Formats: sequence, C-alpha cells, structure tokens
Amino acid sequence: MIPLVAEHITVSFTRRGRGAFKALDDVSLTLPPGSAVGLIGESGSGKSTLARVLLGLIRPDAGTVRIGERTLFTPSYPRPAKEVQMIFQDATGALNPRQTVFAALAEVLTVIRGLRDGRAALADRVTALLEQVGLSADTAARYPRELSGGQCQRVCIARALAVEPAILIADEPVSALDVSVQARILRLLRDLREQRGLSLLLVAHDLAVVGAVCEHAVVLQQGRVVETGTPAELFRNPQHPYTRRLLNAVPVLE
Ligand SMILES: Nc1ncnc2c1ncn2[C@@H]1O[C@H](COP(=O)(O)OP(=O)(O)OP(=O)(O)O)[C@@H](O)[C@H]1O
Ligand SMILES: [Mg+2]
Repeated sequence: MIPLVAEHITVSFTRRGRGAFKALDDVSLTLPPGSAVGLIGESGSGKSTLARVLLGLIRPDAGTVRIGERTLFTPSYPRPAKEVQMIFQDATGALNPRQTVFAALAEVLTVIRGLRDGRAALADRVTALLEQVGLSADTAARYPRELSGGQCQRVCIARALAVEPAILIADEPVSALDVSVQARILRLLRDLREQRGLSLLLVAHDLAVVGAVCEHAVVLQQGRVVETGTPAELFRNPQHPYTRRLLNAVPVLE
C-alpha cells in the first residue's frame, strides 16, 4: 500500500481564439494508503484533467505528484507507473473493438505483467479476473460490441485489476449506467478496496455515488478545490454555496 500526494497542481490549456485558461489552479489532494477519496464537481470542473495528471498522462505547469517513493514529472520522469491504474470515463471507447475480452485481458497479463503462462493457465487467470468483477467465463470470447455498457465497464475494471495496481482511479465509472448496475459496480469497488487494500480515487459528479464508497470527498469548482470533508458532512452541512448547488442539481426537463 502506497500513498499518492499531489501538491499545488496547475494545468493551463489554450482555447482557440480565447487564449489560455487554467483547468486546474493550485490543486492539492492526498490519497492515503488503502483509502477511498471522492472527487466531485460539475462538468468541466477539471476532474478528468486531475485524474490524468495523477496518472502521469498530462504534465502540469506547476506542482508535484508523489506516488510512494516516486516523483512524477522530474526531467528523468519514467513512463506512467503500473502501480496506478485508471478506469476511463468512456468504458466502451476504452476497449479495442477488434479484440475479444480474452485478448484484452491476456495482453495485460503477458505484456504489462510479463507473465509467461501457457494458454490454459492464461485462460484460468482471465476467468478468475472476470469472476472477480461478476462476469461469467464465457464473456472472454466476446467482442466489446457484444457487451452492454455495464459489462464493458466491468471488463475495464478487470483489465485495471489485472495489472495488480496499488491505486485505482475510476473516472465516473457509473455515470453511463442504470441504477441497478451502478449499485453493483460501486459494491464491487468497495469490496475490492476492502479485500485488496487498494486505494481508490473515485471521480463523480454526484455526492451520493461518492458517499457509497468513500470516506473523504474533495469538491472541485472551475479548477479549484472549494470544499473537503466526509460525504456525510457535506450532505448535512455543505459550507460552500457551490457544494449546496451540486446537492440540488436535479436536471430540469423542459
Ligand atoms: N486537452 C484539452 N485541451 C483543451 N482544453 C481541455 C483539454 N482537456 C480538457 N479541457 C478543458 O478543461 C476543462 C476541464 O475538463 P475536464 O475534462 O477535466 O472536466 P471534468 O470535470 O472531467 O468534466 P466532466 O464531468 O464533463 O467529465 C474543460 O473546460 C475542458 O473543456
Ligand atoms: Mg471528466
């Protein structure tokens, strides 16, 4: 179990015709070993950008990220590390349409994990990974287009777990799913954390989702942290007007 500490992260993007804007402005966040932290904020507040920085996919203009003993973004900064894995916001798009589920998982086991198993042993490992996310062994033979959104999401979780990461970043893993599948995925993430001691950063725009899994929540607004606390505290007594607005954010249908 290793900690992840991000300090004073600033990221600017250039918008055509409108100059630079700060997608993240002096954001700090700590993920203690074995913890589950929720990152919430409305669309465009910078959640996915921060997730990408923590993964080492975006180099910030300022700030540091430490994962265990390792510091990202030093001049000799190595490739993104295996100890942090991400479940991307768009599960279906994150899978290669030409690869079966078996091929997708076997690739991670052989290429990233470097396992030299024979076909039968590999098949056993793939079955075990699928079982862990509540999918049957016959899912292995299917292509992503033959899976539902929730099944795709679970394949993505299985793929992340295949790497045996210490830290899992899940970017809106349930936003695209119906409520019953949402509950299954959230339960799965909670169990994995308890069984494996995984640390979890759960990105969501809904405090209820975060409250189901996390003991701590960080609220982002326009690239800044505006409030932190336990989900229960934020529900009961949101300090910041923006957090209050998020809690009341029920879509209005015209
Ligand atoms: N590569 C990029 N180039 C330019 N602007 C970007 C880039 N990536 C993100 N942005 C902008 O940065 C801001 C934050 O985007 P981000 O994807 O982090 O938001 P988010 O909180 O994840 O939103 P959502 O809930 O919709 O997923 C947005 O205004 C977005 O348009
Ligand atoms: Mg996002």
